[in-house]
Amino acid sequence: MKILMVCLGNICRSPLAEGILQHKAKQQGLNWLVDSAGTANYHTNEPPHRLSQKVSKMNGIDISHLSGRQFVKEDMNYFDKIYVMDEENYAEVKRISRNLWNEEKVDLLLNELYPNENRSVPDPWYGAEEGYHKVFAMIDKACDVIISKYAHQ
Ligand code: 4NP
Repeated sequence: MKILMVCLGNICRSPLAEGILQHKAKQQGLNWLVDSAGTANYHTNEPPHRLSQKVSKMNGIDISHLSGRQFVKEDMNYFDKIYVMDEENYAEVKRISRNLWNEEKVDLLLNELYPNENRSVPDPWYGAEEGYHKVFAMIDKACDVIISKYAHQ
């Protein structure tokens, strides 16, 4: 499985999602490729936000080596599954992908936990540490569903 996690800046939510899913896949002995990207280029080549790094580390996952990059249309072909954090990310991925857009590959991450509800992983960028803990917990649960869904493919 090749899975891409996408948010706006690729420094708060999607690096957490990448780190969490990669960690779980490894724990299960799954040879999955997990990556993340942002729909914007504001933070290209930057490490994850310090609070994403901190909260992740408190949960035993090191994401300090990750580096921001922007989503490119070729990602749509390369990855088997692309998870976005909110509906704005969904619209941007669709726009950037143009002729390569494949609706079957793309879904909101929280639809794995709450099918068809189109809930968002809220952007913790403007808030305090507590927001990052909440986001971590949501992503963690959704990644458990992804592991059990695709582990035997
Ligand atoms: P993310 O959060 O999409 O979860 O990485 C954001 C990070 C940066 C900005 C917005 C959201 N920004 O406007 O720079």
